[in-house]
Amino acid sequence: MHGSIDVGLDLFAEIERLRQEKKAVILAHFYQEGEIQDIADHVGDSLALAQAAARTDAEMIAFSGVHFMAETAKILNPDKPVVVPDLEAGCSLADGCPPELFSRFLERYPDHVVISYINCSAAVKAMSDLICTSSNAEKIVRSVPEEKGIVFAPDQHLGRYLIRKTGRDMVLWPGSCEVHELFSEKKIVQLRLHHPDAKIIAHPECVEAVLRHADHVGSTSSLLRFVEEDDAESYIVATEPGIIHQMRKRAPEKRYLPAPSDSTCACNECPYMRKNTIEKLYLCLRDGIPEVTVEPEIAERALVPIRRMLDLSR
Ligand code: 13P
Ligand code: SF4
Repeated sequence: MHGSIDVGLDLFAEIERLRQEKKAVILAHFYQEGEIQDIADHVGDSLALAQAAARTDAEMIAFSGVHFMAETAKILNPDKPVVVPDLEAGCSLADGCPPELFSRFLERYPDHVVISYINCSAAVKAMSDLICTSSNAEKIVRSVPEEKGIVFAPDQHLGRYLIRKTGRDMVLWPGSCEVHELFSEKKIVQLRLHHPDAKIIAHPECVEAVLRHADHVGSTSSLLRFVEEDDAESYIVATEPGIIHQMRKRAPEKRYLPAPSDSTCACNECPYMRKNTIEKLYLCLRDGIPEVTVEPEIAERALVPIRRMLDLSR
């Protein structure tokens, strides 16, 4: 029966056995629990995981991340089963851009190039000319000829950051990440007063007021590279704290302080990413469910801007 696990089972050994038996590849995002990151074949940011999905020769993909990431893997591998630990692991950016509303919004900008951040549904990707992630967004925006107008969706904060970086005037869809939007400028500044040597590093999904204080802004993989190469001893990390597991592995001698959020629970974890557990990862490998599906006609259209992004990111 799906969902029941024998008590006393060595889940890690079982996942290993199932991975070989099913010729599966396990992909995990940096925001996953440490034990999931450690057992994955590839752990990375959204771009690295899409690239891993594009080149895999595995017969099954077990994707431990959120729905839009697994959906991208499915679009790239229409003939392979893509299973996820929890089908309910969504994303506030993807949910905040319903395809019907987006389609009506685009009618107002018929001559614009549409760039969508990968954190959106397959249906929104299917309406886009280009997809980007936080790793390649600047490059993707700069690839659009100067004279062309651009619609950027769905993250307004990443969009504003890109406008400041590139000087391009873009029309923004008003979406945001409910986790990054809640990091508190005031509490981050207070934390730095207690740790004056700590550098602030932030994901571009944070609001401008937070990004203004950052010593480095970048995707999860860029933040990781920064702490590895930089010479400071401590960092205030303004992104989901799952990444700190990887930072501690790669630069163990340093100190990482999770940036505080504005909410009363002081909770800066992504509630969607955290739906996944090692138990659910085991179950999806064992039972082959839940599986991510994408309507073939939408998948075919969404593949075009995803492929363009992959080609521009080599
Ligand atoms: P990265 O592509 O930088 O890993 O970001 C994914 C994400 O969901 C950030 O909230
Ligand atoms: Fe979506 Fe934000 Fe969670 Fe990233 S952290 S998956 S953008 S809700």
